[in-house]
Amino acid sequence: MTEDLVLPAPRDGGTGPSGEPLLEVTGLTKHFPIKGGFPIRRTVGAVQAVDGLDLTVHVGESFGLVGESGCGKSTTGRLITRLMEPTGGKISYRGRDITHASRKELAPIRSEIQMIFQDPYSSLNPRQTVGKIISGPMEINGIEPEGGREKRVRELLEIVGLNPEHYNRFPHEFSGGQRQRIGVARALALEPKLIVADEPVSALDVSIQAQVVNLLQKVQDELGIAFLFIAHDLAVVRHFSQRVAVMYLGKIIEVGDRDSIYTRPRHPYTHALLSAVPEVSLSGEDTGGRERIRLAGDVPSPIAPPSGCRFRTRCWKAQDKCATQEPPLIQLSGNHDGHLTACHFPEEPTVEGRAEDIVLDPALAALEEGTEQ
Ligand SMILES: Nc1ncnc2c1ncn2[C@@H]1O[C@H](COP(=O)(O)OP(=O)(O)O)[C@@H](O)[C@H]1O
Ligand code: SF4
Ligand SMILES: [Mg+2]
Repeated sequence: MTEDLVLPAPRDGGTGPSGEPLLEVTGLTKHFPIKGGFPIRRTVGAVQAVDGLDLTVHVGESFGLVGESGCGKSTTGRLITRLMEPTGGKISYRGRDITHASRKELAPIRSEIQMIFQDPYSSLNPRQTVGKIISGPMEINGIEPEGGREKRVRELLEIVGLNPEHYNRFPHEFSGGQRQRIGVARALALEPKLIVADEPVSALDVSIQAQVVNLLQKVQDELGIAFLFIAHDLAVVRHFSQRVAVMYLGKIIEVGDRDSIYTRPRHPYTHALLSAVPEVSLSGEDTGGRERIRLAGDVPSPIAPPSGCRFRTRCWKAQDKCATQEPPLIQLSGNHDGHLTACHFPEEPTVEGRAEDIVLDPALAALEEGTEQ
């Protein structure tokens, strides 16, 4: 343990965000080199997976990170949890720079930042009992809770809604939803301050998703744990996150308070994500006052992203300026504090008549049912 990373005492677990920054990320970048050539392999290009990301997660806050598949969400999660080395930028955790901290330097905070993975099947070792899986992080970190590890594991099983008697069972004896609960219990074992949850319900049956989201919500509320909650659409984070950032091709294109993002989105891409109906109607046809946007084409390759605004190849408002100048992420006039948008020609801040149109998939319906009781 180095002097450098002895951290100030943590705040007591509160309920909800305190406004105090826990994680601060600036200019975070990850470029994966592409090797080519023979006989000498040279770097011939790079996958610009994450390209200059700024975000702050406050103590006890749930921050949602949303974007289509391939836009760099998982890479961001892995950089923040330092499972991966950043190419550039800075990651501060509780005021300490951990961007390039070594394993040894990270040891004191390893327990405070935990990750929940998307796939509850591959993320649990099939040869270990549930007891072993959940107590693993305690063992690795040499933590002996009062009353012993087994007692603590049983408590954790109870917290996540599983039977403590199932301590000796193996992952294959559980359903997908139950396995994800085991993943949550493992993440909680070391009493973390921050959990990075990478699409934690995407692999689950729709009917189970709401239950797991409810569990995570309970964990966040009652234990005061901050979340970076990663999702591929806006439906899930709408229920879970106080602030939301929308990512496109390695960059944040809009960020703000949940209500501001859902009711006053300004970026065309956010409008598209919020617009559920898969029909284009940008030609002025009457759509009954509701905006219906279908995104044309696929997300471009992050190896050679479009110049200027990366969204321009799919944007219905694109003009010449969009190809030559990258729009800065700024607060547009009329927007709430902290609501930032990166667009030269933003949309009007309205989703008039679209309140019921924000259904992106059946998961939302299940969530509505599950969380609004
Ligand atoms: N280890 C890697 N090597 C090369 N490219 C990668 C690697 N990991 C991810 N990528 C690429 O980086 C981009 C972002 O991936 P990812 O972070 O997984 O996106 P998301 O989680 O939003 O789907 C993708 O184009 C993906 O193919
Ligand atoms: S900057 Fe231009 S291309 Fe990009 S989102 Fe705004 S209008 Fe569309
Ligand atoms: Mg991913």
